[in-house]
Amino acid sequence: MTPPVATAPGAARAASRETAAGPLASTAAPTGPTLADRLVDALADSTGAALDALAGAAPVDRRDRVLTLMTVHDLHTAPLDVVGAAVLHQHHPAVAGLKRRLEGSWLAELDAAWAAQDRYDDEWSDEPDPVARVVRDMRSLAATDRLPDAYRWLARTAGWDELVAFLALEGGPDGGFDDLVALCQVGLSGSAKLELGKNYWDEMGCGDLDAVHTTLHQRMAAAIGMPEVRREDQPVEALERIAVGGLLATNRWLQPEMVGALGLLELQAGPRCRLVVQAFDRLGAPEAAYPFYVEHADLDPVHGKDWLDKAVVPIVAEQPHWGPRIVKGAWIRSQLNLAFFDAARRELVRPASAA
Ligand SMILES: [Fe+2]
Ligand SMILES: [Fe+2]
Repeated sequence: MTPPVATAPGAARAASRETAAGPLASTAAPTGPTLADRLVDALADSTGAALDALAGAAPVDRRDRVLTLMTVHDLHTAPLDVVGAAVLHQHHPAVAGLKRRLEGSWLAELDAAWAAQDRYDDEWSDEPDPVARVVRDMRSLAATDRLPDAYRWLARTAGWDELVAFLALEGGPDGGFDDLVALCQVGLSGSAKLELGKNYWDEMGCGDLDAVHTTLHQRMAAAIGMPEVRREDQPVEALERIAVGGLLATNRWLQPEMVGALGLLELQAGPRCRLVVQAFDRLGAPEAAYPFYVEHADLDPVHGKDWLDKAVVPIVAEQPHWGPRIVKGAWIRSQLNLAFFDAARRELVRPASAA
């Protein structure tokens, strides 16, 4: 998994106030430290006593919520040398309470948006062919917005600096996917477990260290001089797109949604990566930039089809009640993706056109 870029104490505060948006955005500028800053400070206290003061604490806005959650998710999934001694507080009651509260409010918003879709307003138990319905719905979701404007813009219009800046925010089609797929397979069995294991092995370059996807991404980043963008400098939509991985991976009860979210990613990544390759061609990218996106352009359509046929189909055949939740997870991922693409393009195009 790509190591997180740590948020320095105090840094989230300023960024939070600049880009607040959405349901939690305050109309007035918040005063005092953000919850994310308070959590980072409290985690630095080895006794854990400072964490008790966070009981009942609320984020100042939507951005503060996601930054706080990402710090909590780091305790569960980030490399130990990044998290440091704070990892001892992974299951501290105050941290667990904070996680549950903030994830609960985010999930309530996602649930309301999903319910407004009315996709499964009929009784699911009356569905005559749950497997066919889920496959149809997943394919239809994947086909909708498979090629967002942001990727067409990359392929046809963006300048080199804009391309590099976009890819720095995008983090690859499947940033952190290896750890996510490993966590997603826990407790699965049969064909689904085998398929997720095969997918993971492909992430590992089929045993060739040189072909591990994270290695390819690092080489691409070095070849194009891609900067590492700190969390406090990323749009809130980019943060939520990353944080949904932590949300799904650290809540076992959301495993059906995770199967759907990761499957959708595989179903949509190939054509998007092809457009990045077109942008590389148009702008004369160095040779070492290509393998990461070429690999995903070629492999992910196969991964997407196999995820559906060999993981989703047998799971729904065995447990039909997982069906709507798998589609819901795919829908959530698609919505967060689209919000991110729009935000990234807005941020990148605005300065150029204003100049
Ligand atoms: Fe990958
Ligand atoms: Fe893949």
